[in-house]
Amino acid sequence: MAFRTLDGVNLQGQRALVRVDFNVPMEDGQVSDDTRLRAALPTIEKLRQGGARTILLAHFDRPKGKVVPEMSLKPVVEPLSRLLGAPVAFAGNCVGAEANDAVHVMKDGDVLLLENVRFHAGEEKNDKDFAMALAVNGDIFVNDAFSAAHRAHATTECLAHLLPAYAGEQMRLELSALDRALGQPERPVIGIVGGSKVSTKLDLLKHLVTKLDKLAIGGGMANTFLFAQGHDVGASYCEKELAETAREIIRLAGQNNCKLFLPLDIVVAEKLAPGAPARVRPVGSIDEHERILDAGPETVERLCRAMDNSRTLVWNGPLGVFEMPPFDKGTVAAAHHAAELAKAGKLVAVAGGGDTVAALNAAGVTDDFTFVSTAGGAFLEWMEGKTLPGVAALARQ
Ligand code: 3PG
Repeated sequence: MAFRTLDGVNLQGQRALVRVDFNVPMEDGQVSDDTRLRAALPTIEKLRQGGARTILLAHFDRPKGKVVPEMSLKPVVEPLSRLLGAPVAFAGNCVGAEANDAVHVMKDGDVLLLENVRFHAGEEKNDKDFAMALAVNGDIFVNDAFSAAHRAHATTECLAHLLPAYAGEQMRLELSALDRALGQPERPVIGIVGGSKVSTKLDLLKHLVTKLDKLAIGGGMANTFLFAQGHDVGASYCEKELAETAREIIRLAGQNNCKLFLPLDIVVAEKLAPGAPARVRPVGSIDEHERILDAGPETVERLCRAMDNSRTLVWNGPLGVFEMPPFDKGTVAAAHHAAELAKAGKLVAVAGGGDTVAALNAAGVTDDFTFVSTAGGAFLEWMEGKTLPGVAALARQ
C-alpha cells in the first residue's frame, strides 16, 4: 500500500501533530522500559532538523474517557527529554486553552507532549469534533504509532482525514518489515506461533496456514492440538472444547500445503515453579499430575532444521513458560538459532507481540533479528490479515 512519508516535505515552521505510542511499562510512576520512546526518536529528530514544531499525541493505559491522574503521560517527559537531548514541554490537556497556549508559544524545533488523549471520550469514539479540536493545533499529521494502528480512534484515524497525513519513520519501518515477512516474503516462509491460548489466536492460525509454507505451533496452545490428536496431556493447560477447531486447522493446513509442526517431545513437571524438577518425555507420555511446560529438545532441533531450510521467519508467542527457567530452554534455543541465521543473512527473521519481545529480550537476541515489532495487538491483527484502520487512513489517495 502506498502512503506518504516525510521525505521531501518542507517542514520549516510547520506544526506537526505526531501520534506516537507511549503506552510504556511503568513501575512506581517511572518508565521501566523505554523501547517505545526510543522508537519515536527518528521521527522527532527528523521533524526538529527540518525546523518543525513537534506536538506529540499519545495514550497511556485505558482511562476510558475520564481523567485518571495515575494514567498521566507526565512521567514520560523526563526520560524522553533525556533520550532526545533536548527539552520536552508538557501540557496538562490535549485540547482547549491549555493545549492551544502551549502550542502558541512553541518555536521552530521545539517539542511538546500533550496529556493522554484517552482522558477524552472522543478519542476512542473516533469523534470528529474531538479530532477537530486537536487539528486546530496542527498543519500536518504524522502517524508513528503502528502499535496503536489497529484502533480506529480520533488520533489514529479521524485526524488523518483532517490534515495532510504522513507515516512517521517507525511506522514506515514496521510496515516495510512486515511486508518483507508476510506481504512479499522470500520463500519458503516459516511461522512460529506460541503462547497459551488457541482461543485468542484462532483467526491468526486460520490465516497463517493459507500464507505460510510451514507453521510450528508451540506453547500452551500446542497442548490443545496434541489433545485433539488423541494424545494424553495430563494436567496441562488445554482448551479441550477447541479440539474440533484444532482438527479443522490441521485440515486447513493440509489443504493449503502448509506443513504443520506440532511437538515431538515435551518437557513436563509436576509444579510450575522456578527450578522445578523437569523431565523430557515423548508426546503422549505423561503422568496425570504432570504438566507440559516447554518444547522438548527433539522438537526444537527439528524446528531449527526447518528454519535452516527457510528464507523468512515470522514469530509470535513463546514455545514454553519462558519466564520461568528451566522452562525457557526451548524458546531460548530456537531464538538463538533464528538470530544466528538472521545475522548470517540466511533468514529474514521478524517477530512481534508483547510476550515474544520479552522472550527475545530475555534470550538476548533482539538486536540480531531482522526486525522486532514494538506492537502487541496491532502485530497480531496484521498477522491475521486484517486491515488496520490507522494504516488504511494513511493510504495515498
Ligand atoms: C499497545 O500497547 O498494544 C497499544 O498501545 C494499544 O493499546 P490498547 O490495547 O490499550 O489500545
